[in-house]
Amino acid sequence: MRIDIITIFPELFNPFLQLGIVKKALEKKTVDIRAHDLRNFALDKHRMVDDYPYGGGPGMVLKPEPIWRAVEQIPQPRRVVFLTPHGRTFDQEKAWEMAQLKNLVLICGRYEGVDERVREELVDEEISIGDYVLNGGEIPAMVIMEAVIRLLPEVLGDEDSVVGDSFYQGLLDHPHYTRPEEFKGYRVPGVLLSGDHKKIARWRKKESLRQTLLKRPDLIKKANLDPEDRDLLAEIEAEIEEGLGGKEDRNEKC
Ligand code: ADE
Repeated sequence: MRIDIITIFPELFNPFLQLGIVKKALEKKTVDIRAHDLRNFALDKHRMVDDYPYGGGPGMVLKPEPIWRAVEQIPQPRRVVFLTPHGRTFDQEKAWEMAQLKNLVLICGRYEGVDERVREELVDEEISIGDYVLNGGEIPAMVIMEAVIRLLPEVLGDEDSVVGDSFYQGLLDHPHYTRPEEFKGYRVPGVLLSGDHKKIARWRKKESLRQTLLKRPDLIKKANLDPEDRDLLAEIEAEIEEGLGGKEDRNEKC
């Protein structure tokens, strides 16, 4: 996969590309990432990328020509994404869809906005990372890249595979514990120490359902639950009804 970022701050991406899983994916050549300085595509002697808005008003608007030139040098087929609060909210499903693309182009907005002709004629899709306003699309571009790159083949090892991720089956991940077995009097749930893999799998599924029900009930409604999941959910609901199943019951205090 190739990802091209069009930005007036390409240097912001340096630490992001030089560390951790993203760095590994670059070294393995699973992904090729190029951060382009929009100013390099401005042809005037001042390398101007923005200008005053027609009709007046505060702020500057990114000019269409440099963005157009920057995008046109990227190979087809390409998906051109503009990062903006106007866009559809990014989620795990969108990350999976993007992970199938050959060429992804991320245009980072700045200032008051971008000339509308870019949005209408050049951009395939507008994406937001949430209902708040940032100063530009650079952080959203990193968010999207991180979510997408970890889904590419062989980027994650078995030990941190995407299979256990939150949202993998439309549910939040189950709780995790590590040593010590007892910490400040709080014990790890006994089933995790039992060595019984079937029971552990059932506990994990149930706790994943519980986390989702308690923290993101909207996801439960959309999740594709099988009859076994529905039984577990009914058990959880009964426990909640009886005032059981809170963290005091699950982490046995000695
Ligand atoms: N640019 C500014 N705010 C943004 C947001 N919330 N998502 C994507 N791009 C943005």
